[in-house]
Amino acid sequence: MLTINLVTLFPEWFAAPLGSSILGRAAAAGLARYRLVQLRDYTHDRHRTVDDTPYGGGAGMVLKPEPFFEALEELRAEPPIVLLSARGCPFRHADAVRFSVGQELTLLCGHYKDVDQRVADREGVEEVSVGDFVLSGGEFAALCLMDAVVRLLPGALGDHESAASDSHYDGLLSPPSYTRPPEYRGQAVPEVLLSGDHARIAEWRRAQAEALTRARRPDLWARYDGEHGSPGTP
Ligand SMILES: C[S@@+](CC[C@H](N)C(=O)[O-])C[C@H]1O[C@@H](n2cnc3c(N)ncnc32)[C@H](O)[C@@H]1O
Repeated sequence: MLTINLVTLFPEWFAAPLGSSILGRAAAAGLARYRLVQLRDYTHDRHRTVDDTPYGGGAGMVLKPEPFFEALEELRAEPPIVLLSARGCPFRHADAVRFSVGQELTLLCGHYKDVDQRVADREGVEEVSVGDFVLSGGEFAALCLMDAVVRLLPGALGDHESAASDSHYDGLLSPPSYTRPPEYRGQAVPEVLLSGDHARIAEWRRAQAEALTRARRPDLWARYDGEHGSPGTP
């Protein structure tokens, strides 16, 4: 079982997403459990203050280091400990795999202007970003990361094949999918998918995956091509 600790100012925010869909089913099946930790519980003043003004001046409030350090100590958290951060290293499928094979994962959610840098610099903490944009809080990012991790746990998906044929699993974007009807508003499903010829279908899907990856994600394509070599490349 994978235990995921979530340190946040808004634990109540997670009630619906952690109880629904894959995350909820994985918990019900005993594959994962979620421990929600209120950051304010690790303050010691009357106002339960978690933030303060930034040294050097400037707008916004910075989350103080002490509550994060004390929460991690009480949890006895071991790596991987992830601070969700817009300046972090990009979260990739390989990280989801890495986190999914462990026993425990701890996620630290920032908020407001920033988190005191000493949290990121604490031993065992890694800063992770879910994309090149800024969210208002780490909660959305944590949920995104958790979903990517939990769906990889054996038994979390009804049909593991559906993870293995998803984008990024083998370094490529996935080919497009179609279902009935065969024609809708003048748009026809590619003939090959209706042919019943499994070899041709597999070949078409591979070609689509490669073409999409090359066109939309030259960064992924360069890595994939470097590892596998393009068909036809000497
Ligand atoms: C308003 S943001 C702070 C942004 C920070 N001042 C910066 O420019 O990098 C508040 C919190 O949201 C979370 N966050 C925002 N964007 C994120 C992203 N792309 N990936 C992961 N977490 C993010 C982090 O926990 C961050 O501390």
